[in-house]
Amino acid sequence: MTRNGRFKGRSVGVVGDLSIDEQRYLYRKARELKAELMAGGDAVRYRIADSDYSAYLVFLENSTRTRESFRNAALFHRVRASMFDAASSSFAKNESMTDAIKMLIGYAPESCFVIRSKLEGVCGWLSDYLGPWAERSGYARPSFINAGDGKHEHPTQEFLDEFSFLEQLRWDDSRIHLALLGDLRHGRTVHSKADGLRAFRSVVVDLVAPPELAMPDAYVEKMRRNGFEVRVYASIDEYLASGEAAAIWYFTRLQLERMGESVLEKAPMLRKAVTFRKDMMEKLPDGTRFYHPLPRDRLAPTIPAFLDDTPLNAWDAQSANGYYTRAALMAMLSGVVGDDFDGEGLPAAAEDEAFVLEAPASTRTKPEYKIGIKPVDSGLVIDHIASGAPIEEIWNRIDKIRRVLGLNLRSSHGVYHTNSGAFKGIVSVPDLLSFGEKELKRLGAVAPGCTLNLIEDHRVARKYRLGMPPRIYNFDDIACRNDNCVSHPSHQEHVEASFVRKSGTGTFVCRWCEREHDYSEIWSL
Ligand code: ASP
Ligand code: CP
Repeated sequence: MTRNGRFKGRSVGVVGDLSIDEQRYLYRKARELKAELMAGGDAVRYRIADSDYSAYLVFLENSTRTRESFRNAALFHRVRASMFDAASSSFAKNESMTDAIKMLIGYAPESCFVIRSKLEGVCGWLSDYLGPWAERSGYARPSFINAGDGKHEHPTQEFLDEFSFLEQLRWDDSRIHLALLGDLRHGRTVHSKADGLRAFRSVVVDLVAPPELAMPDAYVEKMRRNGFEVRVYASIDEYLASGEAAAIWYFTRLQLERMGESVLEKAPMLRKAVTFRKDMMEKLPDGTRFYHPLPRDRLAPTIPAFLDDTPLNAWDAQSANGYYTRAALMAMLSGVVGDDFDGEGLPAAAEDEAFVLEAPASTRTKPEYKIGIKPVDSGLVIDHIASGAPIEEIWNRIDKIRRVLGLNLRSSHGVYHTNSGAFKGIVSVPDLLSFGEKELKRLGAVAPGCTLNLIEDHRVARKYRLGMPPRIYNFDDIACRNDNCVSHPSHQEHVEASFVRKSGTGTFVCRWCEREHDYSEIWSL
């Protein structure tokens, strides 16, 4: 069998790495696969069945379900499966993730990596960096599958959750109303729901958690942007009292291992707000089902054990679905299935919009730019630097411009009044007569909003206005503020910081961990 389906070599670092139609296709394939296996078939047309294909299960955080369902999925596929954990591999000798994976790629013509790590965004990074490296080195492009990265996402859990909801709703994807309960702040499975629930055409989601465990704003906003109706409650009691409870409840445990001290101290009290009690039973809508990504904390479960043998228990069947959805995902990413996909894929990457605009250079304007006390007769003048910002920030930006552009020439700079009485910075460089496109973009990144004037013969010959750049990368002094991000300098993974401007907000999102930053936050102090 040739394996060249349209998903071959793709990676899944976040749910959004598959389009909605591609996610629906996964559910269709998983459903077919499950039906065939349950009926005693051997599902041969879904198998990779290639002894040259290696699946590496790299688990640097503990796992039972994700690791074992992937291991069994690899056995189903009849491929090589290797297990890695933090304690017994050379990660314990400070080996970087990139070095370790690069070496493993060399052991088989084709590989897929299933990675659980506290480093947020690690699969996106490995796919971007090692994917092209593998191809240049004569290997098939490997797939990287995120098996849970810190507080960020758990996309394959999301796929099995959505599959389970669809199964419950008899494959009707027109509408879902569900409640997410528990630790919505530190739990990654609920964060993946902000994109995963888009498998349904209409979504109402009730967030039930005390403020300390509330869903982070960025995910609530994302849900709303995705068209979900979002309602917020501080406890199960408050939720049931609203009389509007959903019939699908998705519980999570408190993620004690990721809480700061101050929240951890309050954990017993916070847990009470999201733990189900016997007296709540009669207030549930008919046919309610409880889901949970598992594990439950056996000492203090949010779904107590008295519910295990009741019709509310949907979580056991849910976890079994992990096997089918992961086996189907492997079939897609290895190219075994995919040719019958007929929906919409991911949108093409947007072209970087122009943020360097040439402005009319009025011949009537007499520049008053000076070098020391002398007017600039030819050269470059960068004006309106950090216009309106506090003075300290303006000096900071002037310093950055000089460093980033290497302006170690005869020049002058200063902070001046703008016409409106605020402050701005000006740098004039009389010896520099040309400025390349690359420098213009770098200047735009360090001093968005500035203007660049090319002065010839006492006149402004050309003038450029620099807006906010769509991407900022390739600077030594930018860094993601999320200390769990794979690119955070503290991890020494040597991952380049890279930011993408979020449309409509003016903020910048880390390309790896998706943390949102204000413009000034991305620059190291
Ligand atoms: N097993 C899931 C995860 O790794 C949920 C949990 O641990 O609570 O994210
Ligand atoms: N649901 C889940 O990811 O379980 P494990 O942590 O046991 O893999």
